[in-house]
Amino acid sequence: MNNRERFSSRLGFILISAGCAVGLGNVWRFPYITGQYGGAAFVLVYLIFLVLLGLPIMVMEFAVGRASQKSAARSFHVLEPSGTKWHLQGYACMAGNYLLMMFYTTVGGWMAAYIFKTLTGEFKGLDSDGVAAVFNDMLARPGYMTFWMVLVVLLSFFICSLGLQKGVERITKAMMSCLFLILLILCIRSVTLPGASEGLRFYLIPDFTRFTENGVGNTIFAAMGQAFFTLSLGIGAMAIFGSYIGKDRSLTGETINICLLDTLVAFLAGLIIFPSCFAFGVDPGQGPGLVFITLPNIFNQMVGGRIFGVLFFVFMTFAAQSTIIAVFENIISFSMDLFGTSRKKTVLINGIAIILLSLPCVFGFNIWSDFQPMGAGSTIQDLEDFIVSNNLLPLGSMVYLLFCTSRYGWGWKNFLAEADTGKGVKFPAWARVYVSYILPLIVLFIFIMGYYQKFK
Ligand code: TRP
Repeated sequence: MNNRERFSSRLGFILISAGCAVGLGNVWRFPYITGQYGGAAFVLVYLIFLVLLGLPIMVMEFAVGRASQKSAARSFHVLEPSGTKWHLQGYACMAGNYLLMMFYTTVGGWMAAYIFKTLTGEFKGLDSDGVAAVFNDMLARPGYMTFWMVLVVLLSFFICSLGLQKGVERITKAMMSCLFLILLILCIRSVTLPGASEGLRFYLIPDFTRFTENGVGNTIFAAMGQAFFTLSLGIGAMAIFGSYIGKDRSLTGETINICLLDTLVAFLAGLIIFPSCFAFGVDPGQGPGLVFITLPNIFNQMVGGRIFGVLFFVFMTFAAQSTIIAVFENIISFSMDLFGTSRKKTVLINGIAIILLSLPCVFGFNIWSDFQPMGAGSTIQDLEDFIVSNNLLPLGSMVYLLFCTSRYGWGWKNFLAEADTGKGVKFPAWARVYVSYILPLIVLFIFIMGYYQKFK
């Protein structure tokens, strides 16, 4: 083996991959998208996609990363048959990682700002309109949002500059452990609220008539986007961690662990948010502001609500931070692979770049709010999210998929050998026909159907 940096332990690898997967996608995006698309029926489709699409594609990303020992910027160069163009995917991956950060850091900043707001008692005594006004006030203040966004970015880059084992791995481990604990406490509190059962019904008992409200194609498209988003698939974000591990474990087993952890967190986040929504009469379908407009209400009317509130937003910030760190680590590694610059210098340059690139999203809520690219009332954030979640992720996942199954790419034999090296669950060889022919068609079909319904 070469002298590439490695994780110090297997647990470190699982936790950091889970730390990358578990983030705002679970606690912010999953609840608000689920609320918009009608609850339990959407959740069911989403869960099916996690297993049918998410699991095999994550194994493929890990395999490409581990076999090439490179980030997505170089991995295709190493593995592709000579003369082919698969390495162009590297550029899509790079663009995807930057684009993701362009709106993600803003939401991370909201979370951090809400720790402070809750701590200083800004929500005390407000009714739900008052709480909503605090959120909208924040959106109207570009300087304030920029401050928190920059703070979150700087902290993440500082951690990355410490290096892989000392920085990224150690800190993610601590964050992930606290996170589970806080989540469980809040969950118990939420499901025991008076009136919580209505929310549980909305969240857990499928009502397929809700499907038609947003259009069936559109709903399924959204579920697929969310499945890829929450597992961080399609733009080489997971592949990079594959390049940091040894060959002693098979990849399918590790993937199952990570998917279970991720799903558990999203599921618990829903269990916190929907019962509370219904217990306090908040509309679950109101969009990206959902957690910010709902939860302070709830904390307000809870015994010890201020403490619960601070804990919740600390937990949310942790989840966002561990994801941002993982994506930064990926971006940094791209640059180091491509230009051979030192870690410190790469961190500095990219830190500045990410801050500048994140500004349009911040400004989209205030000084540039006249620009409504996705229809009335939409923002630059919606556009960036759409480009990433509904385009780069499904299409990028297709490239990984075809690369691993086609004989014009890396090929099935090589993929299977890599995935199955080591102890643990093997990738089912009988699934070859499914992943080679059926899976790509499913993704393509949903993609076209979703586009058609969205823009017709
Ligand atoms: N999965 C992360 C979340 O749930 C977001 C994320 C990190 C991501 N890296 C990614 C999404 C790469 C897509 C691709 O918050």
